[in-house]
Amino acid sequence: MPEPDGADIPDLDDRVTVRVHLDPADWSTHLAEETARGLRDRPPWIPPVWFYDEAGSKLFDHITRLPEYYPTEAERSILRDRAGDIARLTSSPTLIELGSGTSDKTMLLLDALESVGTLRTVAPFDVSEEVLRSASRTIAATYPDVTVDAVVGDFHRHLGHVPTGDGAVLAFLGSTIGNLDPDQRGGFLAAAAATLADDDWFLLGTDLVKPVDRLLAAYDDAAGVTAEFNLNALSVVNRELGADFDRTRFRHRAHWDDDGERIEMHLVADGDQTVTLSALDDLVVDLRDGDHIRTEISTKFTPEGVAAELADAGLEVVERWTDADGDFLLTLARRA
Ligand code: SAH
Ligand code: AVI
Repeated sequence: MPEPDGADIPDLDDRVTVRVHLDPADWSTHLAEETARGLRDRPPWIPPVWFYDEAGSKLFDHITRLPEYYPTEAERSILRDRAGDIARLTSSPTLIELGSGTSDKTMLLLDALESVGTLRTVAPFDVSEEVLRSASRTIAATYPDVTVDAVVGDFHRHLGHVPTGDGAVLAFLGSTIGNLDPDQRGGFLAAAAATLADDDWFLLGTDLVKPVDRLLAAYDDAAGVTAEFNLNALSVVNRELGADFDRTRFRHRAHWDDDGERIEMHLVADGDQTVTLSALDDLVVDLRDGDHIRTEISTKFTPEGVAAELADAGLEVVERWTDADGDFLLTLARRA
């Protein structure tokens, strides 16, 4: 998405606030501890947040335009059809978006809320500051009457900082919730429910279970963009944690885990190798040929399963919609 030219929009900077809740030292310690915990596990794993440096965020954006990666277009088509319904049902003055990235699809919701005349504040929330700042400026430039109250934060820990309480819509799109394991999802949904007032709304996008061949193609595309996205995590860990992963000695693998109903992305060792992470007290990871590191889970849902997880967190479904092909689900919920 192009960076808007702020010089042509005199009050752009007055309307964009970026609140940074990630203290760099605390965030580094947290990620270092998580990564050390994951790499000591068998099989080893690393947190998916390593994907989203500037290069990784661009690669994700490329993935969303690949022919095999259907979720983005499926969710966009639901929003195209239903954003008006959502705006009329919620009449919300505030749209908060967690894991907002470029907020590209979100513009459909913003257009609809503008049309009903209620929108005042947009609050994108992301761990990746560069992407968040760029998206915030685009939103402010596109919607001259709104204030952008952006938050740089970790949605596992900083949900208390989102501006709910005025009939806001708290949106979590793109099926990013599928990247959380069941315990994390329970904790996340409970924390999200706790930030909502009785007249606030929760809007959740989830990818649905479907034939495995389509899922595997979506996570192992012919052009190799997802492979590059996966391998980029090693470059980020090398840079941020002083590691010496040799990217040329790992290959990308997408795997369907039937029990967890999820795609897992792995990096598979090509040959025996030893990796040292200097920022983790010289942690040594020994890998045999064919061993793998899990870099991401991407859970697939059923509508009933989503409703049950929401109910466990004290949220009830108000409306839910799928796209014409039944690939993706958008659920509007509120406190029960
Ligand atoms: N919502 C967008 C982007 C999805 S990509 C869409 O539907 O296309 C996932 C986004 O979540 C990225 O922008 C990434 O930076 C962000 N993210 C990942 N982990 C996060 C965390 N722990 N806290 C906040 N944002 C996170
Ligand atoms: C952001 N998240 C929902 C994406 C997904 O589909 O799980 C990330 C992704 N991983 C590989 N391709 C896209």
